[in-house]
Amino acid sequence: MERWRTIIEPFRIHSVEPIRLTTREERLRAIEAAGWNLFNIHADDVLVDLLTDSGTGAMSRDQWAAIQHGDESYAGSPSWYAFLHSVQALFPFRHVIPTHQGRAAEKILFSVIGGPGKTIPNNTHFDTTRANVEFTGAEAVDLVIPEGRQPSALHPFKGNMDVAALERFLEERGAANVPVVFVTITNNSGGGQPVSLANLRAVRAICDRFGVPLFLDACRFAENAWFIRSREPGNEGRPIPEIVREMASLADGMTMSAKKDGLANIGGWLALDDDRLAEQCRNLLILTEGFPTYGGLAGRDLEAIAQGLREVVEEDYLRYRITSTAYLGEALAEAGVPVVQPIGGHAVYLDARALLPHVPPLEYPGQALAVALYVEGGIRGCEIGTVMFGRHPDGSESPAAMDLVRLAIPRRTYTQSHVDYVIEVVRWVAERAPELRGMRIVDEPPALRHFTARFAPLG
Ligand SMILES: Cc1ncc(COP(=O)(O)O)c(C=O)c1O
Repeated sequence: MERWRTIIEPFRIHSVEPIRLTTREERLRAIEAAGWNLFNIHADDVLVDLLTDSGTGAMSRDQWAAIQHGDESYAGSPSWYAFLHSVQALFPFRHVIPTHQGRAAEKILFSVIGGPGKTIPNNTHFDTTRANVEFTGAEAVDLVIPEGRQPSALHPFKGNMDVAALERFLEERGAANVPVVFVTITNNSGGGQPVSLANLRAVRAICDRFGVPLFLDACRFAENAWFIRSREPGNEGRPIPEIVREMASLADGMTMSAKKDGLANIGGWLALDDDRLAEQCRNLLILTEGFPTYGGLAGRDLEAIAQGLREVVEEDYLRYRITSTAYLGEALAEAGVPVVQPIGGHAVYLDARALLPHVPPLEYPGQALAVALYVEGGIRGCEIGTVMFGRHPDGSESPAAMDLVRLAIPRRTYTQSHVDYVIEVVRWVAERAPELRGMRIVDEPPALRHFTARFAPLG
């Protein structure tokens, strides 16, 4: 296949969902009524929805068939064993605790190990991870390598942890105050960038030296494994499941959102080796999610995930996934649109701070750009910048490390012509970027403000 340039989706369409075409005027009315927040828009008013790749993918024929096998027994359902088997085939941790999605796994884990005085380092915390750490009174610290904070810096593993900074950090804070070290694969908030096996090994060695456990936030583990296979010397041609198992072998546990590389619409889990910690987490699971053999999930969801985990490590799927995301990013870069380089696995990140240098970070250039893409072309992206990360627990505000707009690609959902349309719209908006104005927040909640804040355009 590689002699042909066109990226062919490795599937045929089996059932279709209509997309409603809207006019610019309709979209302008919709976004105004939504307080200029794309999370408040009715999804029927969106043409190409790139808000998130989380739970928005298309399930396969075999996943829908697996759903028919869903057994809803309260305890010990065969669907639980199918799920457990699939998870442990890739992540052989002793304990697997099913949750309704990733943040529930985070909430349970950090409720047990977090708390005031504790600090949790990560390459970059995702928003829900940071919020769940801070909710317990603990501090969340990001220690990605310096290249990971520079949108245009080229590095094959830009999601890597800054190992020297981690070492200094553990020396200064003292291992007793650091209950866990987290590594997010791929690094979503830092541009969907991968972490190398070499980096995971180095982090592992430091964790061993200080006696601190290492956990993976493994939402996009298959995409990370694909990057290892294609970029890290010595891994060419290795089977993806083998690489995944090696990543898992370097960790003591993981949190997971099956809405990403579980290829499911809902689900997640917490997995770990430590018996005592697992017992504490399970007790909390029973209180907040459900019995340990279903967690927050129906038997049919467990079946869909079990099948999704087999499909996500297929080479044809991953090749298409990574090359089709790169197709979007490279077309935009060639057109002169500043994007985070190299292109990540699940999304293309527009560098709104570079594209709108006349809009200061505290006037939210990412929000202004995301709104313009919606108004002009009905494309819904997501601000990942000062709106998402600029407000601190004490209520103060400062610019985030970067102001990005993430165009996240749902799995197996859009075709290449949808992507060509996105390229056309983004180029059109980028050419007119000097005309865009910033925004101000008129109403916001104390945490995770990007989901519900209301804005007003400036000038
Ligand atoms: C890196 C990362 N961690 C955790 C989560 C939280 O997962 P969920 O949305 O299933 O709660 C996400 C979701 O986008 C994520 O990207």
